[in-house]
Amino acid sequence: MITINEKEQVFHLHNGRISYLLYVMESGQLGHLYFGRQLRPEGSYRHMVEKAHRPMSSYIAEGDLYTSYEHLRQEYPTFGTSDYRYPALEVQGPDGSALCKLEYQGYRAIQGKKPLPGLPATYVENPQEADTLEVHMLDPWRRLEVVLSYTIFRDFDCVARSVRFANKGEETLFLDRAMSLSLDFPDADYETVQLSGAWARERAVKVRALEPGVTAVSSMRGHSSHHHNPFLALKRKSTTEHAGDAYGFSLVYSGNFLAQAEVDNYQVLRVMLGINPFGFRWRLDPGGAFTTPEAVMAYSPEGLNGMSAQFHRLYRSRLARGPWRDKERPVLINNWEATVFDFDEDRLLRIAQKAKECGVEMFVLDDGWFGSRNSDASGLGDWQVNRRKLPGGIGGLAEKVGRLGMQFGLWIEPEMVNKDSGLFRAHPDYILQTPGRSASHGRNQFVLDFSRPEVVEEIYRQLHALLSSADIRYIKWDMNRSISECYSAAWPASRQGEVYHRYILGVYDLHRRLLEDFPDLLIESCASGGGRFDPGMLYYAPQGWTSDDSDAVERLKIQYGTSLVYPLSCMGAHVSACPNGQVGRTTPLDTRGNVAMTGAFGYELDLGRLGPEEIETVKAQVAFYKENRRLLAQGDFYRLLSPFQGNLCAWQVALPDGARALVMVARILSEANGPYRRLPLRGLLPGRKYKVTGKYLSYEAYGDELMQFGLMLEDKSSGEVRDGSGPCRDFSSQIYQVDAIS
Ligand code: DGJ
Repeated sequence: MITINEKEQVFHLHNGRISYLLYVMESGQLGHLYFGRQLRPEGSYRHMVEKAHRPMSSYIAEGDLYTSYEHLRQEYPTFGTSDYRYPALEVQGPDGSALCKLEYQGYRAIQGKKPLPGLPATYVENPQEADTLEVHMLDPWRRLEVVLSYTIFRDFDCVARSVRFANKGEETLFLDRAMSLSLDFPDADYETVQLSGAWARERAVKVRALEPGVTAVSSMRGHSSHHHNPFLALKRKSTTEHAGDAYGFSLVYSGNFLAQAEVDNYQVLRVMLGINPFGFRWRLDPGGAFTTPEAVMAYSPEGLNGMSAQFHRLYRSRLARGPWRDKERPVLINNWEATVFDFDEDRLLRIAQKAKECGVEMFVLDDGWFGSRNSDASGLGDWQVNRRKLPGGIGGLAEKVGRLGMQFGLWIEPEMVNKDSGLFRAHPDYILQTPGRSASHGRNQFVLDFSRPEVVEEIYRQLHALLSSADIRYIKWDMNRSISECYSAAWPASRQGEVYHRYILGVYDLHRRLLEDFPDLLIESCASGGGRFDPGMLYYAPQGWTSDDSDAVERLKIQYGTSLVYPLSCMGAHVSACPNGQVGRTTPLDTRGNVAMTGAFGYELDLGRLGPEEIETVKAQVAFYKENRRLLAQGDFYRLLSPFQGNLCAWQVALPDGARALVMVARILSEANGPYRRLPLRGLLPGRKYKVTGKYLSYEAYGDELMQFGLMLEDKSSGEVRDGSGPCRDFSSQIYQVDAIS
């Protein structure tokens, strides 16, 4: 999948569908030629370089009035060598100069893909699945070696990139900016798509037209954040969900990030993705090395949905790991919204018992079971059970839940501490704080300094004991505040710029150690809902709590936006009680079920409070999910109607062979005397006959009709109300089943 034209010094990564081309410039810098739909492997493509004399440019060689890095598309631009755009790399030496010039040294092409030390990354299961090109660069003045690594996958239209720096000189260097990816496009006629929001309204789809200057999203909160996701896409104005060029850039990282698109005044576009340079400074001593997180680039000529499909397949099968990657996930019930901190063993067992009767497979005990945790003001840091609430301990409760025929799962928030806790009283210096200065709190809690191995070790010790003490199959790993006043008492002044990154490395390390000890553990990541819903976490936790907002209508937008990058298999989604705790809305139980089912499904309420009819609905939902969970988790996902654009939202999941599809259609507000509607489906076989089954309708049609004319929706409202829960009602929805007739 890598063709190298030695004579022309052009490297061509291709997999039959996409091409990525780079070359060595005469000056020794690495230049970029092309990324997009596949070009034929045998061409040279060096002539694609465009340069012209431009006033007010700086030129790299005397006598040459053409060659300026300002106008050349580059692979990994540095600062101060005639390029006035933001560089990918900024490195400072002891003389205070930030000049850096990288020269090509050679390359290595390898089959397969190497892991990144201490960092989450995509992987291969056998070397034939991918090829990796490593390009070796050197700043001869600083003796800084830079290895740019590119992996192209056989089965996914993605290229994964990362960069490794090694100080081969004798002076200490400081990396002030070390992006994972930089990519120069020949034109800027694109719109950017970003996923932005806030707590309880994460990952809303926002589209901006590019103009000269910088368009960026970032996090400086110490986690990827509810506010912006470490992702950016480019699309042409004419690109739709299903047609047109779409490029996606996604960072496999959970800390501060920057995703930026810069348009220069010649309409050249530079995209960058990596650790946020703000708050970052890595000291690279002689002999030292640093590896950036991995960035994944996806391309599809089939619109944004095509781009998402590439991310979904790659992330579901070659980023998520472990036995739970492909296993059916248990239907769970979580007690948080039902009880908050107010529970004892009897109450929990009653919730579990009722859930068991409905077919739920796992009971998850949320916050409040440990230390002095009766509110959010105390207890974090003390991961020992509160025997006043649970006299038999976690082991006793897990056993009783087991006797009901259910698995047991538990909530933890390992990175945090309350001042009112044994851990803080013993180690007040364990939090991130500038000595002598006050530290802000969030939700009454402080952030443990996970950049320090001894702090991680202390939490590991406690959690290892906890997980060894009972049959705990699942962990909900929460993280409920952003980092402020980031400073570690353990590191010298010259290393304070490393603390944010070292913190997240500590978080990854704790995940790694616990999973090594308990390889069958299913971890669900969480950060006040979706505050750390990123590919980095997905490597350790194959599912994440998508949002604290469990209202079915809000979830339409949240899950729709999330699906731009993330597969359904990783979106934790629960049916909760009404009126909804976050927005006070009352939605029909079937809509809550239909929306939650297109995710890692569960319940978050006391089912004992439901009437007999509702219990029957829950039983039917659980049974339907169990029958279809493999399809829902592993099938091809299509966004059909956007809740950001109208009153209807629809999405579809289909078996890759087109034999069966489920189509979820939700209508937010009821309509009086509305139009007839048809919904064109995707991913079916045109010549195959299907049976369509809705709540009230059933008919047969060929795939071509269903994809061209569309599925005939039964959301008519012209006085056709059949019963209260029927089609004419606010927040109505249904799942249509489309089955090939053999
Ligand atoms: C925030 C989470 O998102 C909730 O689901 C719940 O676990 C609470 N924390 C518990 O404190």
